[in-house]
Amino acid sequence: MIALIWAMDENWLIGKDNLLPWHYPKDLAYFKSLTKDQAVLMGDLTYQSLKTYYKTKPLPFKKNYVANILDAEYEDAIHVKDLFQFLKETKEDIFVIGGKTIYQLCLPYADRLYISYVLDTHEGNVYFPKFDLSQFKLIEKRIEEHLIFAVYERVSP
Ligand SMILES: NC(=O)c1ccc[n+]([C@@H]2O[C@H](COP(=O)([O-])OP(=O)(O)OC[C@H]3O[C@@H](n4cnc5c(N)ncnc54)[C@H](OP(=O)(O)O)[C@@H]3O)[C@@H](O)[C@H]2O)c1
Repeated sequence: MIALIWAMDENWLIGKDNLLPWHYPKDLAYFKSLTKDQAVLMGDLTYQSLKTYYKTKPLPFKKNYVANILDAEYEDAIHVKDLFQFLKETKEDIFVIGGKTIYQLCLPYADRLYISYVLDTHEGNVYFPKFDLSQFKLIEKRIEEHLIFAVYERVSP
């Protein structure tokens, strides 16, 4: 199963200068609880971004897949050069954790979406790509303070 997980504000903003535009501890806790001991896939820029957040102790993923075209290799990550081949062939459950480019490329392969709606507007420069949410049905929704945690599953064609 391929699952995408992200947080976005009311304008679908997701990033600011390769960082998150906000700090919502409840969303970070939710993200950590879902991705702990899981295989995650991210783009090179999100990989660099996470390193700035977790300088000493990396997040406890089971496996890190990092997509880049320029063949950068990292000690703690498995390099994905051919993203489409990877998405078509993987038998693992994968959480796609960003960023914009990788979400956009992975969306057609997504079985499940975990969207944290930030009930506010923030400043930033990276937005989630527009897509057709009607291809997915809502299966879970939880409201907490400034956030809605929603889970969607792809509707079979
Ligand atoms: N709000 C959230 O939930 C959330 C989550 C994650 C990230 N973000 C934000 O998203 C932003 C980063 O997004 P981004 O779009 O700039 O970067 P990104 O998606 O993290 O990474 C982009 C990289 O992916 C690689 N790539 C592109 N196409 C590829 C392909 N076909 N096959 C393999 N690799 C490919 C490229 O590597 P090369 O360098 O080799 O060209 C490119 O630099 C940051 O602001 C971050 O904070 C937000």
